[in-house]
Amino acid sequence: MRTHYCGQLNADHIGQTVELCGWVHRRRDHGGVIFIDLRDREGLVQIVYDPDIEDVFATAEHVRNEFVLRIKGLVRERPEGTTNPDLPTGEIEILGKELEILNHAETPPIQMDEDHIGEDLRLRYRYIDLRRDEMQKRMQLRAAVTRHLRHFLDDRGFLDIETPMLTRATPEGARDYLVPSRTHDGKFFALPQSPQLFKQLLMMSGMDRYYQIVRCFRDEDLRADRQPEFTQVDVEMSFIDEEEIMGVMEEMIRTLFSNVLNVELPNPFPRMSYAESMRRFGNDRPDLRCPLELIDVGDLMQDVEFKVFSGPANDPNGRVAALHLPQGNSLSRKDIDGYTKFVSIYGARGLAYIKVNDASNGRDGLQSPILKFLPDETIDGIMQRTGAEDGDLIFFGADKEKVVNEALGALRDKLGADRDLLQREWRPLWVVDFPMFEYDEGDQRWNALHHPFTAPKVEQQESLQSDPGSCLSRAYDMVLNGSEIGGGSIRIHKEEIQQQVLGLLGIDEQQAEDKFGFLLTALKYGCPPHGGLAFGLDRLVMLMAGADSIRDVMAFPKTQSASCLLTGAPTEVSTQQLRELHIKLRQIPKPEDKVGSQQ
Ligand code: AMO
Ligand code: AMP
Repeated sequence: MRTHYCGQLNADHIGQTVELCGWVHRRRDHGGVIFIDLRDREGLVQIVYDPDIEDVFATAEHVRNEFVLRIKGLVRERPEGTTNPDLPTGEIEILGKELEILNHAETPPIQMDEDHIGEDLRLRYRYIDLRRDEMQKRMQLRAAVTRHLRHFLDDRGFLDIETPMLTRATPEGARDYLVPSRTHDGKFFALPQSPQLFKQLLMMSGMDRYYQIVRCFRDEDLRADRQPEFTQVDVEMSFIDEEEIMGVMEEMIRTLFSNVLNVELPNPFPRMSYAESMRRFGNDRPDLRCPLELIDVGDLMQDVEFKVFSGPANDPNGRVAALHLPQGNSLSRKDIDGYTKFVSIYGARGLAYIKVNDASNGRDGLQSPILKFLPDETIDGIMQRTGAEDGDLIFFGADKEKVVNEALGALRDKLGADRDLLQREWRPLWVVDFPMFEYDEGDQRWNALHHPFTAPKVEQQESLQSDPGSCLSRAYDMVLNGSEIGGGSIRIHKEEIQQQVLGLLGIDEQQAEDKFGFLLTALKYGCPPHGGLAFGLDRLVMLMAGADSIRDVMAFPKTQSASCLLTGAPTEVSTQQLRELHIKLRQIPKPEDKVGSQQ
């Protein structure tokens, strides 16, 4: 139907007669001449209709925004003074000779040029939203990313193998999406939270190197970087150690950025232990673009009379930390109240601060609600350790370590954004040396920090039983600009260690047999040492696109409450369907809190 894409025409085509198809982006009547900007996937081009071809002109007069057209015309240079340097096709225009309206459109609910369109509207009319240039570019970027990743992995001998969607619960720690079985009364499939167990089984099947760009399903609370269904670039390799897999994956990401964005990432990526990351940044996915760091000051506070500080300073599970904000003195009372409220989301019971007006003037040069509780040597210690200067501000968090880390870690990110402190750089990082387990105070038991198939560090296998809390795992996460873009581990390949780890997680032999019996059996029949990793494709593309939410790089995402505004899913179904699935609504017992959770 056409000879070119609208957006691909340029001065080289001058003098050619072209046929184009697309949507009316805009129509303008200019004293007897009609201009139509015609848009397709590749961009816009201006068509001009003169009144001398009467019937064509008459049709052009009827055209409205988002009508679908097919046109024929002559490419010509734009008259002097009318070129548009902002538009790739801005040097030329098409003198329209023919015009066919392929379809009419009602007035669209979304204006293509509008900047702030409500997200509900965008999701409801996603097919119109996706026509916008920004979204077209994001979808193209996403396709370029997957194309590159596939080439890279194919080249290196990874086999693309599909794994089931209708399966049993997989242990990534979220709730499962369940699918009732029609043929097995009362039984359910679970949609996979990841292909974790299948990819391990593929290593046991001798496939050696596997990858899959695969949909995963997790019923969890949603955020800007979490969706109930999302895509992983899932990888597994046999006969490797962490150095090898981290090396290949790092190269994959480096070549991706170089080929697709023309950005050279550092070689090698820096590495940091989990412990160091928690200490300096309060979380295990630090945004290294932000120069702020948490500084321990607990040792200076052990004897102060202010219990809020001395309590956590003397508690082995407590932490007292400072966050030094250069030029923070300019924060108003209201700003500080705002940040205090912000950290309270993370359980912080306050946000003490010291403003440094004139450091040379001792305590008189400082301004703070906690000054009266602190002796001179503590104040001197704080000033020295933080390196705070005139005009700066120091925030403090004192509480259980977990609360301080979460609160000050989040505050660090927020200050970085609010005060425009982020360097304009890409800062990848490997986080390594994760603990094997994390103690859940509420449930009074150990949880796997990664997942239960992650191997302990070889030299620490003895301490598994005696001191699980001190045991480190062979897991690694790739972090980019404050986002966890991927994570993986070397796996347990010996049945007895797998049993031991499951035991520590409070999964007894019977439960282990029920849930993962197939894996435990497979471990008995010749399992190679293996390991792998999965990237969150949506997060990766979100960062590369400079988007704020993974919803912006998914064609048809769900809302924060996990529904689809376009199709209206989830929907009710007929009683007939329910009956076939053996679901009797009234008899469903009250759901337990953690149905489907594996950990
Ligand atoms: P993990 O659970 O860390 O590991 O997931 C891997 C990566 O997937 C992305 N991700 C998500 N993206 C969007 N929405 C979500 N709800 C969501 N949850 C996770 C993150 C994360 O780094 N089987 C293991 C991998 C392995 O060990 O090989 C796994 O799934 O970017
Ligand atoms: P108060 O004596 O409760 O008015 O607290 C004095 C200052 O300490 C205020 O600025 C509070 O925000 C702050 N503060 C209180 N509890 C904590 C805490 N757990 N961590 C950090 N600052 C706190």
